Amino acid sequence: MTAVKTAIPWGFLLLIPALAAAGGSGFALAHGRRAGLIGRKIKRMPLIAANGILVLIPAAFFLAFKARAGEFDAVFYLLQAVELFAGAMNIALIGLNMRDGLRMAGRLRARPG
Ligand code: HEM
Repeated sequence: MTAVKTAIPWGFLLLIPALAAAGGSGFALAHGRRAGLIGRKIKRMPLIAANGILVLIPAAFFLAFKARAGEFDAVFYLLQAVELFAGAMNIALIGLNMRDGLRMAGRLRARPG
């Protein structure tokens, strides 16, 4: 448990640049267009970023700190529940951006059915 919790913040070293690169290359491919699926992808980005910066990153550092101190108390588990929820939300939002990107690139059918 402690090993996992202290390892998670190191993952940010890879995760944050990767997300920034995905967003940056997306904006480059968009060539200033803001309509349709691109617009929906753009609107998800501030939610993804806010979730990460305001909830996930502080939660991961706090939980790693608590785990190292051996403090597996009610605050630890409550914050971990919040973290899991926010994490699920971000995976869903990133997954939707991936789906819309694949659709625009013609690698998925435009509509199900
Ligand atoms: C979490 C962020 C994002 C993820 C995971 C993501 C994912 C993807 C994926 C998987 C593709 C398909 C690439 C291919 O198969 O060739 C794609 C293409 C694309 N994405 Fe994103 N994207 C993200 C953010 C953005 C943003 C912020 C924008 C717009 C500002 C954007 C605009 C585009 C455009 C224009 C394409 C190219 C579609 C085409 O080939 O016609 N993406 N994206």
